[in-house]
Amino acid sequence: MMSQDPNKTQPEAPDTFQMDMERDDINVRDVHGAILREKDDPRDGYEPIPLWMVSIFMALVFWGGAYLAFFSGGFQADVFDPSQVAWGAGAGGAEKAAPDPMVVGKKLFTANCVACHQATGQGVAGQFPPLAGSEWVVGSDWHGDNHLVKLVLHGLQGPVQVEGTTYNGAMPPWKQLKDEQIAMILTYIRNEWGNSAPPITAEQVAKIREETASQTEPFTQAQLKAIPAVHFGGSAESAPPADGTDAPPEGGEPPADAPAATGTPTGV
Ligand code: HEC
Repeated sequence: MMSQDPNKTQPEAPDTFQMDMERDDINVRDVHGAILREKDDPRDGYEPIPLWMVSIFMALVFWGGAYLAFFSGGFQADVFDPSQVAWGAGAGGAEKAAPDPMVVGKKLFTANCVACHQATGQGVAGQFPPLAGSEWVVGSDWHGDNHLVKLVLHGLQGPVQVEGTTYNGAMPPWKQLKDEQIAMILTYIRNEWGNSAPPITAEQVAKIREETASQTEPFTQAQLKAIPAVHFGGSAESAPPADGTDAPPEGGEPPADAPAATGTPTGV
């Protein structure tokens, strides 16, 4: 009662009570003041979203949209994944540019071969033979393109001579790759690091895959040498005249020298 209306009860109150009231009065004002300064208790679900959070959210949405616009690659499946590339000219609609083996083949080489044969194509001395300037890659009188496809499809093991150096390791088979992919890789390694040789097509790989379907083990050099060489390029000039044995034994020579030494003036 007193706290409800202290002023009304004041005149009737005795002195001592009056003094108490004054003290109470002060207390009541203090209490009211304190209450007025206090804010409402927060209630669930009624808080407005802070402005800074709204602006961060808007910025994120904007950034996401801009990112997609720039980097989605038009949502084409073949933009980033080489295995999704529609090989050759598209069947329908406008001419679709055939994938460039020097681009796609390089990607596949980087994904599958680079760990051993290195990005320089020089291999690792004593362990992994070079592909740069290798007679197995560009061909020679008895190193046919058929041998190259066979050894990559099924692997290679045992002693093998490359550019006058003997290696004795084992390469796993790559038959899990598609015909198109092997064709791309081989076309790439035949035209990189100073190498120059005609392309290998998916059809050629498919044919050899079929012919060698019963092959369960990696080939050896002796087995391959027993198979007559076939040069897909057709013309004799596609094979370098030199047999490669006069090349320096270690893969130390600059790749630029390789074509000059083996001489393929009529490059494609
Ligand atoms: C695990 C390591 C390794 C990987 C990965 C590898 N190779 Fe080889 N490669 C070898 C070895 C070792 C030899 C030699 C085998 C021997 O001594 O009988 C070889 C030999 C070769 C040869 C014949 C010799 C020469 O140097 O010309 C070719 C061509 C070749 N590899 C191509 C490839 C291609 C293409 C790929 C990727 C699809 C590949 N290799 C991936 C280890 C590897």
